[in-house]
Amino acid sequence: MKVLTKEELFIAKKELDQGNLVIFPTETVYGLGANALNSEAVDKIFKAKNRASNNPLIVHLKNKDEITKYAVINNLVEQKLIDSFMPGPFTLILEKKSIIPSNVTCNLDTVGIRIPIDPVAHNLLDILDYPIAAPSANVSTRPSGTNIYDIIPEFEGRVNYIIDGGDSRIGLESTVCKVINNVPVILRPGFITKEDIESVVGICNVSEFVMKEAIGKVESPGMMYKHYSPTTKCILVDKELISNEASKYQKPIIIGSSDLANVSCYHYFNYGDDLVNVAHNIFKILREADKLNGEVILIEATNTIGLGLAIMNRLIRTCSYNYIKRENENN
Ligand code: TXA
Ligand code: MG
Repeated sequence: MKVLTKEELFIAKKELDQGNLVIFPTETVYGLGANALNSEAVDKIFKAKNRASNNPLIVHLKNKDEITKYAVINNLVEQKLIDSFMPGPFTLILEKKSIIPSNVTCNLDTVGIRIPIDPVAHNLLDILDYPIAAPSANVSTRPSGTNIYDIIPEFEGRVNYIIDGGDSRIGLESTVCKVINNVPVILRPGFITKEDIESVVGICNVSEFVMKEAIGKVESPGMMYKHYSPTTKCILVDKELISNEASKYQKPIIIGSSDLANVSCYHYFNYGDDLVNVAHNIFKILREADKLNGEVILIEATNTIGLGLAIMNRLIRTCSYNYIKRENENN
């Protein structure tokens, strides 16, 4: 795989113009991109990522003026969300226009629209005559890629080019939101929080599947799948119980805040002491932890307030819903 600098976007353009894939940085995580209007190019994303054929892709646009070329804005709530949170780490599910090939959205009549604010992503989109369809740059079930060193080994031989944009600023994927009966509903929490949306629209619901396993027909197919997972067994544990849990294993790895630095274990990773840092670090640390041949990875649970909800939504899936909670907990 060839690494491109931000000055070499014309090479990425040429590759995308030819219907091939390019991995590119955004402020959330890296994306595995193709020309969103070329259904054969889009097919290559599903193959390279080993992605389920019923899990739709997000379409990335260069600016807000482009939205109505590809989607319909049906009400004032949608318009308000666009005005407030785009460009940025926010994906809005809108009624799809027929110009978007059906394999992008897996035959849904809606399409996820996002306008990245990252300058490299923006500059790339700016020189293209089409939007980019892109999921997170990871093979299905693995943690999302947030830097080129984690991504290159995973996609070596499958994708020709990656654009180096350094570490992803946020580190977790965008907030996915859909307006249902005039009420915004968070299908996947992210950096734009429920509280942020409430402050603009007055109300915001959160899908019941954000913190539990989704079964059957769900609004966001992505919530059904195993995701964000190292191969080592992972358990989410409340901070007070980590020391006791660790004592049950020969080679426990601990990932958590600096309060856990002195707990006896095989290896400790400090994921940071505030939610912004935890979001930034977590996927990278999960990959590092997985290389150590530990017996188990014990991950400190955060709260579920603000950005905490996005972190816990990912971690509960990382841990296949294994969560050891202290009693009488009400966060
Ligand atoms: O930050 C991000 O969102 C990154 C960067 C690259 O933009 N992309 C990303 O894509 O995380 P992906 O494919 O890994 O996750 C997209 C999520 C999935 O859970 C998918 O099911 C949901 O968005 N989604 C996409 N289109 C949808 C639609 N039309 N209706 C409901 N959910 C949709
Ligand atoms: Mg993903």
